[in-house]
Amino acid sequence: METIEAINKRVSVRFFKEKQITQEELNIILHAGARAPIGLKKYDEMHITVIQNKELLERLDNAIQKYSGQNKRRFFHGAPTGIIVSGKPTNYAYMEYDNGACIIENMILAATDLNIGNVYMKSMIPFLEDSPTFMKELKIPDGFIPLAGLAIGYPIEELQREPKEHKIEINII
Ligand SMILES: Cc1cc2nc3c(=O)[nH]c(=O)nc-3n(C[C@H](O)[C@H](O)[C@H](O)COP(=O)(O)O)c2cc1C
Repeated sequence: METIEAINKRVSVRFFKEKQITQEELNIILHAGARAPIGLKKYDEMHITVIQNKELLERLDNAIQKYSGQNKRRFFHGAPTGIIVSGKPTNYAYMEYDNGACIIENMILAATDLNIGNVYMKSMIPFLEDSPTFMKELKIPDGFIPLAGLAIGYPIEELQREPKEHKIEINII
């Protein structure tokens, strides 16, 4: 697939098959994340955590339901693989969040290229910020903060083939 085709085909997927993606697919997606541009080249101040342990995913689902008071909420929309990007605060215009978003978007496009469903996940970040025990269990490095998440898995429905149009106002001066 060409890059522009993947960009046009990308769509948020929130319903996943239980079947796990292959190790090879995961490696391609993680490699794409690691190839992202990072401000000031601080690659060693960014971290990617992959969660595939079913029991842990279930515990995270239960904990976020308690935290949010929403009993149907799931940490990664029930995806078999969840990814959390964390980083060291940079003290420069919140650049760690830009870095996290670059990593996530690279992984999103790689997943789309492989016909793997995906959705950017921010909603669990406040929960993680308030959950030092899970931060420790997830082995997020000391001093790092959770920035963004990504749910990936085989989509229940085939990815939308037609480009999805969203309108962002553009000025060319
Ligand atoms: C920074 C960011 C945070 C997002 N957080 C969530 C989220 O927590 N949960 C979710 O279901 N979708 C989340 N999304 C996905 C957006 O809702 C989605 O991209 C948007 O509705 C456009 O739809 P599309 O991705 O299908 O084109 C997030 C997207 C971005 C860029």
